[in-house]
Amino acid sequence: MRTLIAANWKMFKTRAEAQQTARELIALMQDDWPAERDVVLFAPFTALAATAEAVAGSPVAVGAQDVYPAAEGAFTGEISPGMILDCGASWVIAGHSERRHILGESASFVGKKTAFALEAGLSVMLCIGETLEEREADKLEAVLRAQLEQAVRGLSADACLKGLAVAYEPVWAIGTGKVASEADILEAHAMVRNILGVILGSTAGSLPILYGGSVKPENASSILALDNVNGLLVGGASLRAESFSKIIRA
Ligand code: 13P
Repeated sequence: MRTLIAANWKMFKTRAEAQQTARELIALMQDDWPAERDVVLFAPFTALAATAEAVAGSPVAVGAQDVYPAAEGAFTGEISPGMILDCGASWVIAGHSERRHILGESASFVGKKTAFALEAGLSVMLCIGETLEEREADKLEAVLRAQLEQAVRGLSADACLKGLAVAYEPVWAIGTGKVASEADILEAHAMVRNILGVILGSTAGSLPILYGGSVKPENASSILALDNVNGLLVGGASLRAESFSKIIRA
């Protein structure tokens, strides 16, 4: 399976800053992109078109960080899959923990977004993960199962194979500098693969599962070497082209 290295720029970067970072990244890679690795930049809505313009002609893809599950309509403040595609982006994040916990998004709404975006032709990075409280209460598996069931049950194998990736991001490891231990990552990724297998059957073996949470150039290669880790979703360390380029090469 190919390895996917993704940058989530969150609510950082104006159009000019996004373009500059994307151009710097391409210059730093010097046309020497590692084989078997794909790269996606998840930019803010306002910088999607500018980022897509900056990476045109390179192997880098662009994605949005959220989407509304309707083609158009009276949904003030929301963005449709068609609008994202129109900016030159081909990916979208669904269910990032900051949206689940800060914006109050439910697992069933995340499921609607996932299904609608896939149907509309976007690839979807479905984010799941437990809080520290849930982990300490021994609810890791129950939380991952509930989040995955609500998002993935009902999707066709075809739709999943065309465009679904899952990112395991323990909430307590995001932006905290506390990377999960190798044992934690191995355990959670094996659980995710198993749960996907129960829901989707053999398709599950072909879906990329990414790890996210305090990934840095220093820890990227050891995390990528773990079983069932097929990529990385990087927040803080993706904001500067130099550090993100080291993670792409890790
Ligand atoms: P950090 O890499 O800053 O911990 O963020 C992870 C994340 O939320 C990526 O989506």
